[in-house]
Amino acid sequence: MTEEALRLVHGDARSIPELPDGSVHLVVTSPPYPMIPQWDALFRELEATSYEAMHGVLEAGYREAHRVLVPGGLLALNIGDAVRRGPDGFRLWPNHATATVAAERVGFRPLPYLLWKKPTNKPNAFLGSGFLPPSAYVTLDCEFVLLLRKGGPRPFPPKDPARLASRFTKAERDRWFSQIWSDIRGAPQEGDGGRTGAFPPEIPERLIRMFSCLGETVLDPFAGSGTTLWAALRLGRRAVGVERDPEVFERLRRRAERGSPPPERAPPEEPRRASTRTRGAPAPRRPRA
Ligand SMILES: C[S@@+](CC[C@H](N)C(=O)[O-])C[C@H]1O[C@@H](n2cnc3c(N)ncnc32)[C@H](O)[C@@H]1O
Repeated sequence: MTEEALRLVHGDARSIPELPDGSVHLVVTSPPYPMIPQWDALFRELEATSYEAMHGVLEAGYREAHRVLVPGGLLALNIGDAVRRGPDGFRLWPNHATATVAAERVGFRPLPYLLWKKPTNKPNAFLGSGFLPPSAYVTLDCEFVLLLRKGGPRPFPPKDPARLASRFTKAERDRWFSQIWSDIRGAPQEGDGGRTGAFPPEIPERLIRMFSCLGETVLDPFAGSGTTLWAALRLGRRAVGVERDPEVFERLRRRAERGSPPPERAPPEEPRRASTRTRGAPAPRRPRA
C-alpha cells in the first residue's frame, strides 16, 4: 500500500493483485444481490445465471476479501434477500443465509449481524393477495449487514493511541450495537439514479467507526458510487475502492478528481490527498485540495 488516502482500482473484486495479503483493516461493501432484476445483466455478463452461480461469483469476492484483511479484520456485508418466481413459483431467495455459508466456507467466522430496517413510504407494499389467509406474503423491508471476521479478535497493544482516539460514546454504542437499525436517516446519494444501488452514507459511517481505527485502511471491493470510500475519508481512514463497470468507475474517478467527498456532514478530519488509478492507465492529475 502507498501512503495515498484514496486508491481506486478499475478491476474485479474476485482478484485484487494490487493489494498484498493482510493490508486492509476493514471491508465494508454491498455486492450486487442475486435474484434482483437490477443485477441480472451483470450476472449474465459474468456467466452466472443460476442462484448458485451468482453466489459463486460473490464467494470468490469474499475469498479475496479474506486474503487482503489483517487477522481479526471484519467484512461488513450489506445484502438483502430477494423474492421472485422460480421454476416452482413465487419464493424467497435467502441471500443473507447463502452468503453467510459461503463466507464461512472461505474462512470467515460469522458474528451476530445487523438488520437495517429501511423506511418505506409505499403503503401498499405488501406482497401477495389482499386480505385472505393463508396466501399473502410478508413484505421484505429489512436488509442485512452480515458481520464476518477473519479469525479471532484483532490484537492491539495496551493503550494503542489510534484505537483510543477512535473511541465512540456510550450513546453511540447503545444505538449502533443494537441489532435492528431503524434510525438510518440518509437517503441514497444523489445522482445515483438507482444504477449503483447506493446505500445511505450513515451505513458505512457507522460500520467504519464501529470496526476500524483512525488511519486504518477500509476497502470496498464493489465500490459503486463510492459511498463507503467517501465515508472512510471523512472519518480519517484510508480508502480503497474496486469497481468493475467502466462507466461507474469513470464517475468514481471524476468525483475523486474533483476533490471528492461530498460534504453530507462535517468531516472530522480534512481528507488527505486523493489519487486514482485505473489498471493500465496513466496516473491521473492531482485533485484539487
Ligand atoms: C450494490 S452496488 C454497490 C453500491 C455502493 N455500496 C454504493 O453506495 O454506491 C454493486 C457494485 O458492484 C459492482 N460490481 C459488480 N460485480 C463486480 C466485481 N466482480 N468486481 C467489482 N465490482 C463489481 C457493480 O458494478 C456495482 O457498481
